[in-house]
Amino acid sequence: MKPAFLEKALSMAGKLDFNDLVKLLNLVAMDDMRLEAAIQSMFDGIIVCNREHVPVIINKSAERILKIPSDFGNKPLWHGIADEDLKQFFHEGLVSEENIMGSEFAIDCPGGTRIIAISLSTLVFSEKISGTIIHIEDITEKRKKETQLRRAESLAALTTLAAGVAHEINNPLGSLSIHIQLMERLLKNPQKLDDKALQHHLGIVKEEIDKLEHIVKDFLFAVRPMDIQLLNQDLKPILEELAEFVRPEAEKYNIKLKVSVQKDLPKILLDKRHLKQALLNLIQNAIAAMSDGGTLKLEAKKADEEIRILVSDTGIGIPEELLTKIFEPYFTTKKNGTGLGLTITFKIIKEHAGDISIESKPGKGTTFTIHLPIPQAERKSLPIYDEDAVSAGSHVEA
Ligand SMILES: Nc1ncnc2c1ncn2[C@@H]1O[C@H](COP(=O)(O)OP(=O)(O)OP(=O)(O)O)[C@@H](O)[C@H]1O
Ligand SMILES: [Mg+2]
Repeated sequence: MKPAFLEKALSMAGKLDFNDLVKLLNLVAMDDMRLEAAIQSMFDGIIVCNREHVPVIINKSAERILKIPSDFGNKPLWHGIADEDLKQFFHEGLVSEENIMGSEFAIDCPGGTRIIAISLSTLVFSEKISGTIIHIEDITEKRKKETQLRRAESLAALTTLAAGVAHEINNPLGSLSIHIQLMERLLKNPQKLDDKALQHHLGIVKEEIDKLEHIVKDFLFAVRPMDIQLLNQDLKPILEELAEFVRPEAEKYNIKLKVSVQKDLPKILLDKRHLKQALLNLIQNAIAAMSDGGTLKLEAKKADEEIRILVSDTGIGIPEELLTKIFEPYFTTKKNGTGLGLTITFKIIKEHAGDISIESKPGKGTTFTIHLPIPQAERKSLPIYDEDAVSAGSHVEA
């Protein structure tokens, strides 16, 4: 932004004498040097290109990370990049004039491979694109920490899951053992074999084996990598189809169903089949929480550069102390629940690079909010001051 003192000085430029002009120029030069020093000292790489994609600012970090020769001339940026992948990325990215957020590249450096994230944002002025700002971040350490954290998290999740499975299979195993012992006792005396009693024990053994099979099937569904295919598409038909699907069940329990989808919602990357499953699990929980009727609301809206899908009920609510437990595998308060519904929903949403939050008041109801990212291409450009227009004495926001 143009400093206030400069604005003022320019407005009275005609009245300034030579000494004042020198003073003013010194101030402007100081300001410029400070800005230059700040950009040059940044740990991250910064490049600003003009409309012809020729760099007008390259800081030292950018030169070092991208290995741009210091005598690089007045040519589009990609001519100064040796790495073929990066060269192609800059060529296509700059020419397309689209905003690109955090594209990742592995580059070979003397100390080993480094991972860098590059973002391109168009500089917009007077509603016209006037260049591109490039931000380059070395994310090698960040990635390492994330991998360590993910490993620790998956180990912890595996422990919980293993404990859950052990607990789940304990009951059927105990029952199997008892009924087999009872059958052994009957078979010890074949002359007085009680056919009916034997059939009864066999029936229970079969039932328990069925239960074990179910536990294994559900377990595998919860842990197996998902075959997720994300496609850019509209959310509205998905919510409408879901609403029609659950309407008969909702009506059966005297539940009013409301669907509200914000107009002109941007498309998002989603896997229709899996997202429907994730939402259905939430809806089924909501219906189960309103056995005496109530209102089930499905809502989709855009907020803070993300899409939010809200599933709200006016049911029994969740006590605060259970809020951290409900996503754990096998956690259930229902007689016939597997306790895997929310685990699966959580997994599906994570595969969509999203998140889930909950708000609940016992006796009043619960709202599950799914947060899904909006793809970069849908975002707005960065506003800045245009060089030409500033020197012409005007300033305009994009
Ligand atoms: N909308 C809700 N209102 C009240 N309690 C809920 C709600 N959603 C989930 N819960 C609580 O969270 C628990 C875990 O839910 P989850 O969907 O994982 O398993 P479940 O519903 O018990 O079993 P399943 O989904 O296999 O039928 C539920 O048993 C219930 O106690
Ligand atoms: Mg459930």
